Amino acid sequence: METEINSIESYKNIYQKSITNTEEFWAEVASDYEWIKPWNKVFTGSFEEANISWFNEAKLNISSNCLDKNLKENGDKTALIWEPNNPNDATIKWTYKDLYIQTCKLANGLKSLGVVKGDRVCIYMPMIPEAVASMLACARIGAIHTVVFAGFSSSALADRINDCGCKVIITADAFYRGEKKIDLKTITDEAISNCPSIEKRIIYIHSNEPLVWIHELDINYHELIENQSNECKAEAMDSEDPLFILYTSGSTGKPKGLVHTSAGYMVYVGYTFAQVFQYKSGDIHWCTADIGWITGHSYIVYGPLLNGATTVLFEGIPTYPAADRNWEIVDKHQVNIFYTAPTAIRSLLAYGESPLENKKLDSLKILGTVGEPINEEAWAWYNKHIGKDNCPIVDTWWQTETGGILISPIAGITPLKPTFATLPMPGVLPILVDEHGNTVLGNGVEGNLCIAKPWPAIARSIYGDHKRYIETYLTIYKGHYFTGDGSKRDADGYYKITGRVDDVINVSGHRIGTGEVEDAINEHSIVIESAIVAYPHDIKGQGLYAFIICNANYMDEYALTNEIKAIVADKIGAFAKPDKIQIVKNLPKTRSGKIMRRILRKIAENDDSNFGDTSTLIDSSVVESIWEKRK
Ligand code: PRX
Repeated sequence: METEINSIESYKNIYQKSITNTEEFWAEVASDYEWIKPWNKVFTGSFEEANISWFNEAKLNISSNCLDKNLKENGDKTALIWEPNNPNDATIKWTYKDLYIQTCKLANGLKSLGVVKGDRVCIYMPMIPEAVASMLACARIGAIHTVVFAGFSSSALADRINDCGCKVIITADAFYRGEKKIDLKTITDEAISNCPSIEKRIIYIHSNEPLVWIHELDINYHELIENQSNECKAEAMDSEDPLFILYTSGSTGKPKGLVHTSAGYMVYVGYTFAQVFQYKSGDIHWCTADIGWITGHSYIVYGPLLNGATTVLFEGIPTYPAADRNWEIVDKHQVNIFYTAPTAIRSLLAYGESPLENKKLDSLKILGTVGEPINEEAWAWYNKHIGKDNCPIVDTWWQTETGGILISPIAGITPLKPTFATLPMPGVLPILVDEHGNTVLGNGVEGNLCIAKPWPAIARSIYGDHKRYIETYLTIYKGHYFTGDGSKRDADGYYKITGRVDDVINVSGHRIGTGEVEDAINEHSIVIESAIVAYPHDIKGQGLYAFIICNANYMDEYALTNEIKAIVADKIGAFAKPDKIQIVKNLPKTRSGKIMRRILRKIAENDDSNFGDTSTLIDSSVVESIWEKRK
């Protein structure tokens, strides 16, 4: 069966076959990979029973598929180009052979510390090549990696380590993001003091400042790998053995550790990388995400490496030392595929076209966006000034839970429609559902987005809480996976994602749960209650607006606001700080005690045109008093 998409007709044929002959389709895709033992059944299970399983009884190792498989013909090919934060520092290029050796040495080092298959290893690293080697080293020995974005605070890090009981943490001494120093050693010192499961901390010396080592705990990364063998036999993983856990925000305060498994994730991510970006041998691929998010896992590390591609890893930020940094990197490394977030585009658009002077950008073939809806203006600017009206823009919709891209144009093949994610990937069956759970048929319609058929890379569980997994994703619309997003399907059958329909807010493409931020704010001694809602933000897409009730003895509002922001930075990370804070006497609540967020959202948006029915509120005058102060 044909699986490579190379024309609109082939997309239609392949899509049709993938839906009617799903198992045959994925078996064909999977035949491109190296299996230690073949599967005996491509798929079993159902959404109803929450027991999805792909490539049953097969054995494989994803790190072998990323490395060993490519060594045979492409050992000297560049696997990874590292661009440092400071442009005056040297770029590092690792070939597939280099990455293989670095991975094997670290894998052996982890083994020497007693790490075995199934152990959890936390990776809290800057964007450096060793972070990629760390992920692959875990995968190689069957340890489950949990990468935590190095912008999370010590307390958020400790929560994640404790939730999945990590035995080892791999980190660095410190790094710079732009001009800001991130002191990972100190942050992990604080976190580990509350993490009884951590036995060892491996520290990569990156910024070379004096360190106080903790004798029993710490190991120098360089020393750990120095005398290890260059070879490490890859563990034969069962298809459904967990590969990694990645935390993301949900409707409640507690983040969810999504569990991704070995075979299905590998097959799906490798396939979607090749198809969506129409990867051609020799292409240089740059995804600007952080490896701490799913985009970094799937389209910086696993997707490109499974395809033998060259992937760019950038340590810094687009505005350092100046707002032309991204474009400089594109020219410097002759990037062919550039994949970024709408927030980054909006923030660079705000600098105008002067950062583009003297930039050629002529290596670019394909552009992508991910993580949040893109607005018309940002799309048009990206298309004209970066793509020079000559590069298809793939607006890829997917989630931490989905593992890989589910809805997206196929670059240069399926039609684009600005601000639309357009059409589903092969094997993916999106449906729209109304509030009563009925499927909305036909085109020119809107509803909650569900996926009606399991696909190989769907997360199989929430670590330690399968019940929450079932309740969050598989119960609301029985027999379907519920995404938490709203969507339109236009007259042509193209999907446009309209945003979250639950208590999750997408700030600069970072997914933040309102409950998480509220829990952090409520820890302030004079806060009685808080409610967070989203409001439209020119750069970030959505901003966080906090309504806060304080007890009588609060001091001056300015000081309090700063303290609230500091507490959120401390509990979660600076990226989750509220943009606006309003102190209120009361919150609009129904008789059953539920906060009417719909009204708060309107107030945050500075819109009093229609607060809707307020008759169910205990006290409707609350709305007026909040609005008066907002004005
Ligand atoms: O609301 C959707 C939005 O990001 C959410 C998933 O966030 P996360 O798990 O952090 O993964 C982000 C990277 C894959 C979705 O529920 N989202 C993601 N991509 C798009 C998007 N919204 C609109 N258009 C997209 N292309």
